[in-house]
Amino acid sequence: MKDPTPSILVVDDEFSVRDSLTQWFRKDGLDVQVAASADAALHLLGKRRFDVALIDVKMPGMDGMALQQHAQRIDPGMPVIIITAFASVETAVQALKQGAFDYVTKPIEPEELSHLVQRAVEQRQLKEENIRLRETIDGMAPSLDTIVGNSPPICTVREMIDTVAATDATVLIRGESGTGKELIARAIHARSRRRYFPIIPVNCGGLPDELLESELFGHEMGAFTGARQQRKGRIEMADGGTLFLDEVGAIKPRMQVDLLRVLETREFTRVGGSAVLQSDFRVICATNEDLDQAMAEGRLREDFYYRINVFTIEAPPLRERRGDIPVLAMHFLDRFARQMDKRFTGLNPAAMEGLVRADWPGNVRELSNAIERAAVIGRPPEIRIEDLPTRPQGKTAPDADDSLAGVEKRHIAQVLERTRWNVSQAAEVLGIDRVTVYNKIKKYGLRRA
Ligand SMILES: Nc1ncnc2c1ncn2[C@@H]1O[C@H](COP(=O)(O)OP(=O)(O)OP(=O)(O)O)[C@@H](O)[C@H]1O
Ligand SMILES: [Mg+2]
Repeated sequence: MKDPTPSILVVDDEFSVRDSLTQWFRKDGLDVQVAASADAALHLLGKRRFDVALIDVKMPGMDGMALQQHAQRIDPGMPVIIITAFASVETAVQALKQGAFDYVTKPIEPEELSHLVQRAVEQRQLKEENIRLRETIDGMAPSLDTIVGNSPPICTVREMIDTVAATDATVLIRGESGTGKELIARAIHARSRRRYFPIIPVNCGGLPDELLESELFGHEMGAFTGARQQRKGRIEMADGGTLFLDEVGAIKPRMQVDLLRVLETREFTRVGGSAVLQSDFRVICATNEDLDQAMAEGRLREDFYYRINVFTIEAPPLRERRGDIPVLAMHFLDRFARQMDKRFTGLNPAAMEGLVRADWPGNVRELSNAIERAAVIGRPPEIRIEDLPTRPQGKTAPDADDSLAGVEKRHIAQVLERTRWNVSQAAEVLGIDRVTVYNKIKKYGLRRA
């Protein structure tokens, strides 16, 4: 489908230029909007899309070059054509380096400009057509980041995601382990205007202090022993996109001070460096610990806490939305069955009831693991209750060895039975190599019945 009327935004501080270009482009059948300054242009760009923008370099206030950069941030797919004075070829080259579609010099040659604009519009429409096609293809497979569930708490979460995605506000996601905090963070990013830039996760709990510092800020060559090269930090990589601070409560107070400064100014310095660098990013934090308590215990600075605690989303534990368990179970079964190429139609009623009644201390992740395991050991068409992990409150034998080794032993024995002790096949089902299967057989003293 072709867009009805291509639209153009003309930005020039001179009335006569705006006026003549408007007339000219209207004659070409374009929808023309004008702005007399960069600010006015940004205002318009924030409100609607244009197929192409024509920007004069020399304007009072923010100049055309800076406007070009901002415009490309707001809508990275929009081609920008720069108007320069005849004399400033350097500016033109700079604009092209910044990603301008092309440039024209004054005095403007209308025919030439018409031609250029037409090409820009076509290029944009072609690109969008490509994206649409790709989205259609993506849409055929269930996406990895769809948030499944229709319970009231998860609907609230979805609404909050939509609300906050439209802003640039800092978001704090709280919730127990495995409730989908990272999924929520990614959903916000994917719906925000920053979606064409990356979301950069940092696991703040997983690294010792000094490593976390260089991970976040980057370092210069020779900043410390082992720093053989300059390295970009995550803050820098998140430029234009989103910085996802996972397990934010694990950051030490000293680092909170440094980070607070970055969050306030969006300026930072690499470890061992002196240059002040800038990065334009949005912050999303996640935590599964009680931050109020962390503050009371002096592990979390008050100023840092207030900085990150602007808009909070609670990821509800699975036991408070048991109604979601059946759809989630089917969602995961579908995914794993597809991966394993096994044709399951669903779970039998007893298995489903077992899932809905269980406690799920590990929340959605635990449910997903349970289904994955069931898909491995179960036989199509249905998952039966025996395929699900035994849990303490379950009905299965109370003396079953539920240690990891015990579960592994039983599981391997079952897979071997099913594959009639074809070790290659068993190895494939288990996702480990044959030698490992032999080692496990020896370790657990398994024998063919
Ligand atoms: N509502 C949901 N719909 C579909 N999948 C979900 C949902 N919630 C969580 N998941 C899946 O469950 C798994 C765990 O989710 P995620 O990693 O986002 O949790 P988390 O809260 O970040 O956990 P942790 O605190 O352990 O880091 C992921 O595979 C995720 O895709
Ligand atoms: Mg997580």
